Amino acid sequence: MVAAVARRHVSLQSPHVSEFEADVLEGLRATPKHVPAKYFYDAAGSQLFERITELPEYYPTRCEISILRSHGADIAKLIPPGAALVEFGSGSSKKARILLSAAPKLAAYVPVDICGEMIEQEAVELRTDFPDLKVLPVTADICKPFELPEEARDAAVRIGFFPGSTIGNFEPHEASAFLRNAANILGRGSTIIIGADLIKSADVLNAAYNDAEGITAQFNLNLLTRINRELGGTFQLQTFEHHAFYNRERHRVEMHLASLKRQKVKVAGETIEFRTGETIQTENSYKYSVESLSALARGVGWFPLGAWTDTSKFFSIQAFKLGM
Ligand code: AVI
Repeated sequence: MVAAVARRHVSLQSPHVSEFEADVLEGLRATPKHVPAKYFYDAAGSQLFERITELPEYYPTRCEISILRSHGADIAKLIPPGAALVEFGSGSSKKARILLSAAPKLAAYVPVDICGEMIEQEAVELRTDFPDLKVLPVTADICKPFELPEEARDAAVRIGFFPGSTIGNFEPHEASAFLRNAANILGRGSTIIIGADLIKSADVLNAAYNDAEGITAQFNLNLLTRINRELGGTFQLQTFEHHAFYNRERHRVEMHLASLKRQKVKVAGETIEFRTGETIQTENSYKYSVESLSALARGVGWFPLGAWTDTSKFFSIQAFKLGM
C-alpha cells in the first residue's frame, strides 16, 4: 500500500517513472524477459558503475583514457579552431577534459546529458578550469532530436564526441538511429569521435563482466532494488543471480539476472512468474572491429577519418565525417 501510494506520487512528479514502469512491465511480460539497460543508472547504479570503471578486470575506461592521453594531439587535429565540441551523454566530462586541453580555441563545449543537475555542476568546474571556454550544457535524451545552443549552431563546425563505448549498449539498429540523429543535430560538415570497445578473447571479456569483487553483480542486481523501490516490486535479491558471458556469434557480452527458483514476483501490482533458471536480460554490450563500426557508420552517411587503439588493441577511438 505504502509502495503503491509512493509510486503514484512519483509518477505524477516525473514522466520518466511512468516510462520506467511501462518499459519494465512490457519487458517482464515478454519471452524472453528483458529490461532496458538504461535503467541501471539510478544514483546507486551510477556509483556502482563508477566503481566498475576502476576494477582491475574492467579495461575499457583505462584503455580509452590511455588512447586519449597518447593520441590526444592527433585526435584534436580533427577539431578546427572555432568549432563547437558537442559531447553526447557527457556525465562527468572526464574524458572531454583531455580533448579540451589538446584542442585549439573552441567556440564552445556543449555537454549533453539526461541528468541536468550533474552537467550543470560539472559546468561550474569546467568554467573554472578552462576560463576561456564557453561551456553550454544541454539537458536532453541523446537518442532524440534536441536543439543546440545558438553559439554552437553558429560555430564554424560542430564536432560530436561519444566516448565510453556507450554505443555498444545500443542494438545495432539503435546505434544507426543514434548516428542518424547525431548527424541531424551536428549538421553539415561535422565530425564525430566515438569510443568503441573491440572484439577480443572471450576470457578477457568474461572477466571484465564477472569481476572477483562482485561489483558488476551488485550493479546488475541493483536494477531489482530499483524496481522494488520505484515500482512496488517484491523481488528477493538472494533468489536471483548475476550471469554475464560473451556471445561470440553476436559479438556481444550479455548480462542477465537468473531466477534460482520457480517463483512469482509482483511489480506495479502485476504478478510475474519465473521458472527455475529463467533470466531477465538486462544488458547487451556489443563489441566492434574498426571495420564493423565503419560499415555501420557508412550505412548512415558517416565516413571513416581515422582510428586509434591502445597498445593491447582492446579499445578504439574512431572518427567519422558526415557525407564525404
Ligand atoms: C556503460 N557501458 C559501456 C558499460 C559496458 O561495458 O557495456 C556498462 C557495463 N555493464 C557492465 N559493466 C559495465
